[in-house]
Amino acid sequence: MQSTISKNNTKFIMSFGKMPLANKFLDKKDFANEKFYDMSVGFDENLSLFQLINFPEPEDMFDENYAFLSGTSEFMKLHFEKFANQIKNLMKKSNRNKKIIEIGCNDGIMLRNFYDDKNYVHLGIEPSKNVYKIAKNQNLNVINEFFSKQLSSQLREFEKKTDVIYAANVICHIPDLKDLFLGIENLLAKDGLFIFEEPYLGEVAKITSYDQIYDEHIYLFSLLSVEKISSLFGLQIIDAIPQLTHGGSMRYFVGRKGQHEISSNVKKFFAIELNQKLDQFETYVKFKNNCENSKERLIELIHSYKKKGKSISGYAATSKSTTILNYCKIGQDLIDCIYDTTPLKINKFSPGMHIPIKDHKYFLKDNPDVSLLFGWNHKNEIFKKEHLYKKNGGIWISHIEDLI
Ligand code: SAH
Ligand code: TMP
Repeated sequence: MQSTISKNNTKFIMSFGKMPLANKFLDKKDFANEKFYDMSVGFDENLSLFQLINFPEPEDMFDENYAFLSGTSEFMKLHFEKFANQIKNLMKKSNRNKKIIEIGCNDGIMLRNFYDDKNYVHLGIEPSKNVYKIAKNQNLNVINEFFSKQLSSQLREFEKKTDVIYAANVICHIPDLKDLFLGIENLLAKDGLFIFEEPYLGEVAKITSYDQIYDEHIYLFSLLSVEKISSLFGLQIIDAIPQLTHGGSMRYFVGRKGQHEISSNVKKFFAIELNQKLDQFETYVKFKNNCENSKERLIELIHSYKKKGKSISGYAATSKSTTILNYCKIGQDLIDCIYDTTPLKINKFSPGMHIPIKDHKYFLKDNPDVSLLFGWNHKNEIFKKEHLYKKNGGIWISHIEDLI
């Protein structure tokens, strides 16, 4: 599949090679039928949009076995609880009942904060059946659909009346941005807000966290790209707030043009992004070189431990780990297994490189000499939980330089 918003405008940056679907952890019997695509990225200079050139069909990724459960992170639970309270404060000025929609609500991690609040009518839209069911079982009002313009016009109660449309780590998953924004425009009240947070291009370029690129992350946004896309639909950025989540994200606030005061953050981040040259292709040529150097450094590091006879494991079978393992061609000859908390992943094999996934409760017992931290975005939570590992002489390593 290809992006429609950037058709014919995307300049090739680099290929990460043959890539499997990032969240398709599999059994041995399914190795032969595994699907791959060429993971190449490009840049659309008109929209300042960094994106995958080809990507798999959404229906192949977001199905009844979607392996990512938002609620596995205690930090993320707190993050969404805090943000739900901020939304409630922001909305206090209007007395009427408020309508809130969440696109990609997953297991209900965010929406559950609105469930018993009488001031809100909520709706979650979630296409992956297994996670939709978890949200539904908490009595949340959720529908098992992909968000689209067409779906928006079936939501009569919400059309032009929605106070907040919220999405976290979802908008970059949606191939047809034109259709998405038409749907948003159709639902937003006159003074409504479209608030979404996504891994931030500025951070990826800065620390070379190329593992933020995988099949589900079709786009990496910046304020520059969000403003250019919004303006095609009569919308504009009114605020932006950096987030520590998922290794460096940005929360964007978008509203109808002329309906809101614009925060000084917008001007500030536009200036920062222009200074970082996020609108220029040359930045991504440098990024390509940085990715290649990072790959070389990680492979050398792993081989140096291997030569000393050390055992090496991975920690957290993140979607991001699929990119690192397949791009750097790291298999079971180098890494014995990956420890993880997700029941859907445990006892399966990692996509592409087929490294066994093991229950995290065996981590301290097995006590590998060296652990490659794939869940680097959950570093504080993981280091706290596994504090005995380092105390007992264990060594953490990362593909991100100077992280540890
Ligand atoms: N918001 C949660 C989940 C992020 S994972 C969090 O931040 O933790 C992305 C979720 O978006 C998945 O649950 C996936 O099924 C859903 N999704 C993917 N495409 C979608 C679409 N077109 N409409 C609505 N949800 C979508
Ligand atoms: P992601 O949010 O970067 O995709 O990572 C989520 C994965 O990390 C998921 O498979 C669970 C795993 N994980 C652990 O194994 N231990 C932890 O303490 C945390 C926070 C996540």
